[in-house]
Amino acid sequence: MSHRIAVIAGDGIGQEVIPEGLRVLTALDEAHGLGLTFEHFDLGADRYLRDGTTMPDALVERFRTEFDAIFLGALGDPRVKSNVHARDILLGLRFKLDLFINLRPVQLLDARYCPLADKQPEDVDMIVFRENTEGLYTGVGGQFKRGTPDEVAIEAEMNTRKGVERIIRAAFAFADQHGHPSVCMADKSNAMRHGHDLWQRVFREVAAEYSDIEAFHLYVDVLAMEMVRRPDRFDVIVTNNLFGDIVTDLGAAIQGGIGLAASGNVNPGRCSLFEPVHGSAPDIAGQGLANPLATLLSAGMLLTHLGYPELETRIRDAVRQVLLSGQVTQELGGELTTSAVTDAVLAALGL
Ligand code: NAD
Ligand code: IPM
Ligand code: MN
Repeated sequence: MSHRIAVIAGDGIGQEVIPEGLRVLTALDEAHGLGLTFEHFDLGADRYLRDGTTMPDALVERFRTEFDAIFLGALGDPRVKSNVHARDILLGLRFKLDLFINLRPVQLLDARYCPLADKQPEDVDMIVFRENTEGLYTGVGGQFKRGTPDEVAIEAEMNTRKGVERIIRAAFAFADQHGHPSVCMADKSNAMRHGHDLWQRVFREVAAEYSDIEAFHLYVDVLAMEMVRRPDRFDVIVTNNLFGDIVTDLGAAIQGGIGLAASGNVNPGRCSLFEPVHGSAPDIAGQGLANPLATLLSAGMLLTHLGYPELETRIRDAVRQVLLSGQVTQELGGELTTSAVTDAVLAALGL
């Protein structure tokens, strides 16, 4: 058995956290004979500024046919104002590999790091299914009379029957398989009559097939409020691409901070991409301040994708132990460097 993993550290703190993730993956590989192989790809702002390369189609094709997973740090660099490289690489891979599920767990591991009063780990334990291949992210639209007083800029939201149905189905199937009692769908159908009416109809249709799962709807503004006020209401949340982006940063905050939020960009059974939810954090890059835990939890999700869910559980348990013992980076009130936190996780794993 062997599993091929493409590694794109990318920009800023991506260069610091990905090596930490690789230390943990390599240690687990050695302990359990998983047969992981890693190939590094020099993609990101430096490469773009050097030779103009962002994400060659031939490479996307190699990822699709030769790799089981991609392990990515972050993309975004103040020197690339247009952010073209990040869009081409990150959104390019999500779209071209058809990674339609952006899976983002929101799980409080240690109550001390929750900014909400009196919340316990059991209160903040949900998972967001963010649609990842359409919505407002496709670039459909255009500019007219750019740079003049009459200019027009249109960004069209694309909602296809296929796209909406497959993410809603994925959310219900997950709830069913993992024993989650409810699925909440969030949209803005009170204001957006066309696309979000489609979400409403598909949600009702699919929900009808799962009589044991409570299906409820919230407008996304109310979802944002309720995630803060009563996070215990939520188990599985399904929503569109942009709303999913926004509510998962909110989710990151209530689970203890952006340095703890993990994600997978998944098409089941196909080459899928795992990355922390946070960005390249240029404000702290290169100083050993980056929290590696979001990346380690993302590595855990990658292992589940490869067929080792028990190893994801072990990583999560080790991260919980490290948080409880206060061995954390500065943004969580600790004093440890990026690699010292990983040392603590490896020790908790017994590796
Ligand atoms: P960001 O997530 O990079 O940073 C937001 C804040 O959180 C900053 O103060 C940063 O220091 C802090 N932070 C983030 N990750 C941290 C970590 N691991 N440990 C400790 N602190 C951490 O968001 P931003 O500043 O809006 O974006 C910076 C760049 O990253 C932009 O170019 C943006 O487009 C890009 N970005 C990329 C991704 C991705 O590659 N998936 C995600 C989000 C943002
Ligand atoms: C994320 C990021 C990206 C997104 C950006 C960098 C395009 O914020 O992965 O959450 O909006 O999807
Ligand atoms: Mn985001």
